Amino acid sequence: MYAIIGTWKMSLQGLTEARDMLACGRNAADAVERAIMCVEDNPAYVSVGYGALPARDGRVLLDAGWMDGQTLRVGGVMAAENLRNPIRAARLLCGRETNCLLAGRGAEQFAVSAGLPLRDMRTQGSQARWREAMQALADEEPLTAYRGHDTVCVIGLDAQGRMVAGTSTSGLFLKEPGRVGDSPLVGSGFYCDARYGGAAATGLGEDIMRGCLSYEAVSLMRRGASAQEACEEALRGLSDTHRRLGEDAGSVSLIALSAQGGFGAATTLPLFPFAVGSAQGAYLCAARTTPQGLAIGPAAPEELDGVD
Ligand code: GLY
Repeated sequence: MYAIIGTWKMSLQGLTEARDMLACGRNAADAVERAIMCVEDNPAYVSVGYGALPARDGRVLLDAGWMDGQTLRVGGVMAAENLRNPIRAARLLCGRETNCLLAGRGAEQFAVSAGLPLRDMRTQGSQARWREAMQALADEEPLTAYRGHDTVCVIGLDAQGRMVAGTSTSGLFLKEPGRVGDSPLVGSGFYCDARYGGAAATGLGEDIMRGCLSYEAVSLMRRGASAQEACEEALRGLSDTHRRLGEDAGSVSLIALSAQGGFGAATTLPLFPFAVGSAQGAYLCAARTTPQGLAIGPAAPEELDGVD
């Protein structure tokens, strides 16, 4: 049995390729890396990888995280510039006993020493988005965090029971250079323990960190919750905290995959698309917030127009 899950509609293409790899007996790590690289390499996805959302100084500074569910080792890069595929660096760093989380220049130097390709990650599109937003700031239009979508998160389970979770993002649009979100932070942006399952989060990192959301979801699976129950309960806990403090629920979504191949998703948004892959194929799903509660189900791409 094998299964894979990824955040947002943008993960579908890579997830489809990754599912086919799992179906041919490839391991979870190769499948997760493939799924995430597919998003990183596509400049149409403006919050991940090549052509992603710049920081205030116009640089594209990327975060990525990786966790091996067998060894519980983690790897990650933070505020990394010029890395063609941050997820490859995060995966390689995950094999290390020390120095497994590198920031800025250190991440770039590691990529060079590991023979990973570098690239100027700015595109004309990313620079135009940056100029426009800086102009709006100069015109004193209020700056709102980029709210559409952000991190590509993928969790995979292979036929040998191995599990991996990976994340990649440029994080908050016009972030201060050096700002780090939840995505490279184990427990917040991702967590994976192959005995129970994996979880990963997307949304405003500063909110996600407050609940160590991904660890919380895996912890609930360890105590017997299904992947769906774990997502709903973990996110409810964070929303309850927001409410208690008089804050709104923010924009946070969570996915999970159990060690038995069960899928889960929850969101504070009206609509959160995600993709799943299994022996049944790869397809899009959506979590919808309705007056009756959270509704989860398959979604046709045309139902998700305008949402990545
Ligand atoms: N969730 C991505 C970030 O806040 O950076």
